[in-house]
Amino acid sequence: MSSLGRWGLGQSGPLRSSPGRAGLRHLDLSIRARLALGMAVITVLVVLCVAAVQYLTLSSFLALGERQRLELLIPRIEGQIAGSRTFTSAVLARANLPRSVDVRVIQAGRVVALSGEFPAIGEGLPPGYALRGNHNVLVRRLEVRGTVLTLQLASDVLGVVDPLRAYLNALSVSAPVAAVLVALLSFAHAGRLLRPLARLQAAAAAVGRGASLRTPLPEAGRRDELGQLARVLQTSFGQVADVREREESFTRAAAHDLRSPLSALKTRLQGALAGPRDPGELREEIAEALCDVERMRRLTEHLLTLASGAQGVRLRPLELAGVVGEAVDRARERAPDTPLDFATRGDTTVLGDASLITHLIQNLLDNALRHGGGAAMRVSVTGTPTGATLRVSDSGPGVPTDALPHLTKPFYQLDAARGGEGNGLGLAIVQRVVDAHGASLAFEGGLPGGLDVVVAFPRSGPEAEGAAPD
Ligand SMILES: Nc1ncnc2c1ncn2[C@@H]1O[C@H](COP(=O)(O)OP(=O)(O)OP(=O)(O)O)[C@@H](O)[C@H]1O
Ligand SMILES: [Mg+2]
Repeated sequence: MSSLGRWGLGQSGPLRSSPGRAGLRHLDLSIRARLALGMAVITVLVVLCVAAVQYLTLSSFLALGERQRLELLIPRIEGQIAGSRTFTSAVLARANLPRSVDVRVIQAGRVVALSGEFPAIGEGLPPGYALRGNHNVLVRRLEVRGTVLTLQLASDVLGVVDPLRAYLNALSVSAPVAAVLVALLSFAHAGRLLRPLARLQAAAAAVGRGASLRTPLPEAGRRDELGQLARVLQTSFGQVADVREREESFTRAAAHDLRSPLSALKTRLQGALAGPRDPGELREEIAEALCDVERMRRLTEHLLTLASGAQGVRLRPLELAGVVGEAVDRARERAPDTPLDFATRGDTTVLGDASLITHLIQNLLDNALRHGGGAAMRVSVTGTPTGATLRVSDSGPGVPTDALPHLTKPFYQLDAARGGEGNGLGLAIVQRVVDAHGASLAFEGGLPGGLDVVVAFPRSGPEAEGAAPD
């Protein structure tokens, strides 16, 4: 790994920047590096805010201290002046003043006593404490033996400025050091926090390379956000595995069902070619071959309908009784010996796809005819307050209760041998059509012993997405 990569920089690609624009926004930094940088910036901002407050407090504290220091000298100077007969500089020298403080005594606008090199400050300053140039100045009025004197004390401002300067110097070193330290610690800590994410990433990548979708993902047991992510991934992988398994078994079953008529067709054609045949025999062979081809055509048609899903569904208002009636007429032509009763009542207008509903009713009629063994059938379409209900009943052998939930599974047949040419796809298609219309499908006991299939269509079509009304 490159050193940049090891430090978490540039892991997600090269630095990207658009011409004319620059800045962190355009750097492709890892979360780890961004966290470290963010923490460093936050640290610097916090340190600067705290330092600003501390600086102001310290400077006013130092100014107050200097004022008090000057004020404490006044009684000493006053005592010396009061004890002397004249107001001269020698009197001030006896007061034993600190070297850093200069003093002068003004009488009637004239300097009468001076200690040190008093800075160039006007004699007429009012009483009080003030900052003048580079000096702190304290002015007091004294009355000694009836004479009014003005006492001026001055000290160099460096006594206040120096500690502040030292504070700023210390800050200019400590703030960057704190920022770097915080960045490094945040980087290391983020690395520890993100380690489980790397494990999760590796497990997900292994699934992408072909490991089982059902392999338990690491970190799924955690109670934090990473645990939630792992559990969501685990669930999604499981759902993908379910779909994949369903598709695999569907494809296997489809291939298996296509293989039987293909093998039969091959055997038939080989037999026809094997020796001399008279035209009658040949016609018979060709007719049987056509039956095999028809079985394969039906199967591929079923598969196509199942594969197309909700795509291509065109919902329009239609009268359900009319569509069903036409299908019933064709069924009567196909099986004239089977008693088929058809009844309709009420307004049966629903939002539906006519060709899909024809497909649905044909499959149900076909089942009743084929699996009902020619027993009497009854078809009814009834308008309801919420839509219309289609009911196809027969009085054939029916379906055992425990088999009812499996009827709509692709390739499910109660008795494949009895089903003969069927593929077990008819009711799976019925279920698809029902779903595309937002309808409901139920199997009940209808005519004695037979099967009763009930489809309830809503008047306004499906509420969910998937079908496109127009
Ligand atoms: N009316 C019915 N009476 C008795 N059994 C039925 C009836 N309808 C369906 N079945 C049972 O349900 C199974 C599944 O029906 P489905 O329509 O899905 O497939 P199929 O009729 O066997 O074949 P296909 O419809 O693909 O040509 C049938 O094989 C049959 O065993
Ligand atoms: Mg069928």
